[in-house]
Amino acid sequence: MKRVSFAEFGGPDVLHLEDAEEPHAGPGRIRVAVRAAGVNPVDWRVREGQILGAHPVTLPAGVGLDAAGVVDEVGAGVDGVEVGDRVFGEGASTYAEFAVLSAWARMPEGLTFEEAAGYPSVVETALRILREVGVRSGQTLLVSGASGGVGSAVLQIARERGITVIGTAGAANQDYLRGLGARATTYGEGWVERVRRLGDVDAALDLAGSGVLRDLVELTGDPGKVVSIADLAAPEFGVRFSGVAGSVPDALAEAVDLIARGKLHIPVEKSYPLAEAAAAHIDSQAGHTRGRRVIVV
Ligand SMILES: NC(=O)c1ccc[n+]([C@@H]2O[C@H](COP(=O)([O-])OP(=O)(O)OC[C@H]3O[C@@H](n4cnc5c(N)ncnc54)[C@H](OP(=O)(O)O)[C@@H]3O)[C@@H](O)[C@H]2O)c1
Repeated sequence: MKRVSFAEFGGPDVLHLEDAEEPHAGPGRIRVAVRAAGVNPVDWRVREGQILGAHPVTLPAGVGLDAAGVVDEVGAGVDGVEVGDRVFGEGASTYAEFAVLSAWARMPEGLTFEEAAGYPSVVETALRILREVGVRSGQTLLVSGASGGVGSAVLQIARERGITVIGTAGAANQDYLRGLGARATTYGEGWVERVRRLGDVDAALDLAGSGVLRDLVELTGDPGKVVSIADLAAPEFGVRFSGVAGSVPDALAEAVDLIARGKLHIPVEKSYPLAEAAAAHIDSQAGHTRGRRVIVV
C-alpha cells in the first residue's frame, strides 16, 4: 500500500510517499480503507521531533492520527462494527491507504469522508479542556485562538451547553466566530481591553500558545480557571497544561450526537491528495487554518 512516512525528523521535505506493508487489525482494533485523514498540528510537531514524550515514534514512521474510511478488518474481541461500515476515528499512520484505528464510531448520515476526518482529535480535545477548565452554563469563557480546529469545536460545544464565549481570531475570522455564536475580537495590540469591553470572563482557554497566559490569568483572576493546550510555559503561571489525549473515551459518540443534531460542524479549509502531504503541513504550520485541513486518499 501507499503511505506517507518520514525516516528522519525535520521540515516538510522529510515526508515521502512510500510503498509499505499493510497493517492489520490486532485484538480490540479495526482496520479501515482510509478515504480521508485529518491534518492536526500534532502531526507536524511529531515530524519535527518536538513532542516525543507524549508521542513516541520509531523511525521510519507514518504520519496522522485521524481517519475516516470503510472498515475492512475487524480484530478479535471487537463487537458492534462490521466490514463495510463507514467509520471515523483515531489510530496511527492514517496518511495511508490502510490504517488501524483504536477508537471509532459510525459516521453520521450526510457527512462526507473528507468532513468526517476533521473531527476525532479536535472533538476529544475540546471536550477534555471544557471539562478541565470547569466552565458551566451561564458563565463566560474566553477562547484565545478560537477559529482553528479545536476552537471551532469548543465554540459550538460551549454554545450547546449555554456558555457565553468571547473568542479571539484574526481579522478575516471575526464573522466566522460570530457565526458560531461567539462575541469576537482580534488578537494583537490592545486585545485585553477589547475583551474587557465584551464582558467579564469566568474561565479561559489558550489554544494558540501566543504568550498570553499572564493576560488570561489577569482576566479570569485565577490561574485555576485557565487551561492551555499550546504553551508549555503554563506551569510557570500556575496554569494547567492539558496534554493527555484520549482522556475522553466517549468523545466520538458525543461528536456523532452533536453532528446528527446539527449542533457541530467543522469546516474543511482545504483538501490535499496523499502525495501532497508536505503542502498540507506547510499550510497547517502557517498557523491560520479555519476548521481543519484534510488529506484525501
Ligand atoms: N495539548 C493537546 O492535547 C493539544 C490537542 C490539540 C491541539 N493542540 C495544539 O493546540 C494548538 C491549536 O490546535 P488547532 O488544531 O486548533 O490549530 P489550528 O487549527 O492550526 O488553528 C490555529 C489557530 O490559531 C489562530 N492564531 C494564530 N495566531 C494567533 C494569535 N497570535 N493569537 C490567537 N490566535 C492565533 C489562528 O487564527 P487566525 O487564522 O484567525 O489567525 C488559527 O485559527 C496547536 O498548537 C496544537 O498543536 C494541543
